[in-house]
Amino acid sequence: MNYKNRKDFPENFLWGASTSAYQVEGAVLEDGKSPSIIDMYEHPDDVADFQIASDHYHRYKEDIALFAQMGLKAYRFSIAWTRILPEGTGKVNEAGVAFYKNVIRECRKYQIEPIVTMYHFDLPYCLEKEGGWNRRETIDAFVEYGKNLFELYGKDVVYWLTINEQNTMILHPGAIGLPKGGKVPGKKELYQQNHHMMLAQAKVMKLFHEMVPGGKIGPALNLTAMYPATCAPEDAIAAHNWEVLRCWNFADVPVYGWYHPLAVSYLEDRGIMPEVLSEDYETLKDARPDFIAMNYYSTATIGASKGDGQDVAARAGDQQIMLGENGVYRPAENPNVEKSQYGWVIDPVGFRYTLRKVYERYHLPILVTENGIGASDQLEDGKVHDEYRIDFLKKHLYQMRLAITDGVEMIGYCPWAALDLVSTHQGYQKRYGFIYVDRDEFDLKDMKRILKDSFFWYQKTIAENGKNI
Ligand code: BG6
Repeated sequence: MNYKNRKDFPENFLWGASTSAYQVEGAVLEDGKSPSIIDMYEHPDDVADFQIASDHYHRYKEDIALFAQMGLKAYRFSIAWTRILPEGTGKVNEAGVAFYKNVIRECRKYQIEPIVTMYHFDLPYCLEKEGGWNRRETIDAFVEYGKNLFELYGKDVVYWLTINEQNTMILHPGAIGLPKGGKVPGKKELYQQNHHMMLAQAKVMKLFHEMVPGGKIGPALNLTAMYPATCAPEDAIAAHNWEVLRCWNFADVPVYGWYHPLAVSYLEDRGIMPEVLSEDYETLKDARPDFIAMNYYSTATIGASKGDGQDVAARAGDQQIMLGENGVYRPAENPNVEKSQYGWVIDPVGFRYTLRKVYERYHLPILVTENGIGASDQLEDGKVHDEYRIDFLKKHLYQMRLAITDGVEMIGYCPWAALDLVSTHQGYQKRYGFIYVDRDEFDLKDMKRILKDSFFWYQKTIAENGKNI
């Protein structure tokens, strides 16, 4: 729809940026922290691991001062469970507690709203060794971790995110990484883990509302709208299949307390329905988020499965993510969208479309917790001219402003990433930040922070509350 006038971004809009603990902090085993599963994953030999990352653990003051200079109103970061409870449960590690107190205090000093992710792919390894999310005991461990966090930081943090991209962890576990010699678990096991995470999330949201009056909590999922490859009705059904299985089934549970009926039919038919106790439904129904957080990078285009052995293919530029499923859907090319250097679809209009769908479905305000473009930025004469990033963000914000005009209620926008960090499996070759971190994969150099062109563009955009968009 075209409008004569576009609505402005709301006055108190949270212009932010995001990171996650294991991708920026480094100090993997420092000050009492224990390893998480992600620290123990096998790592490609030719890219940086997480040992040092961007050394944010030691440089958070300098980094947050730069975020303030950029004008950020919000900083989304994750707390490493393994810094707070190195044994997964039980004894609290005071040094870890102090680190995040300091990060939060530093944010508040500059009137930056801290947005905390409780869990960003980094289950304590000691819990994984005991069976991880396959066990119901891990639900209790997550609740105990939540209770500690709400006691420690509940007074200072309003916005909380439970679990980052649960759908990626379940649908594409290999994309996050695997333990040495480890195998991707089977689907039945993954959906059982998913159910336990759903219960853990519901219990934590309920506890949060009891312990942190006035606070707001929500899930952070990777959400994306699907296009049918053609106007053939079979392609439309296939696009709907995958949209439900990939997105709505993960967001319906925290909001409505039910598994989507199409997903249940799929799981039962394939013999991979998790064990669900009758009291579990009460647990799921007993909790509700205050908002939906969503990570958006791309849309997908979907054709009907042909069952000819060629439905499944690796995502372009990414051998770890297999798309397509016999009898469900097959991925298709979309000639109407561009792609990034890493083969990721760039679709700003799809962003508006996804925002509309999410709002229409859940009637909850939306916080965008990731959006951005990974690129091999080049440092030349002390500058980084990342005009492609400015172009990407500008186009997405333009479409978000249209979504706001459409009536979608937006809380804020936290692109990925506040500063350069380790990409999940492309190290520092693929960068996302507004701030360049001067290190290579293996040569740590001086880790100097260098402001990219996109830093100054975002600074201006925030100062004008997006009027330039
Ligand atoms: C999101 C994750 O899925 O995508 C981030 O939440 C991740 O942790 C981001 O870094 C970009 O993916 P990648 O593989 O390019 O690092």
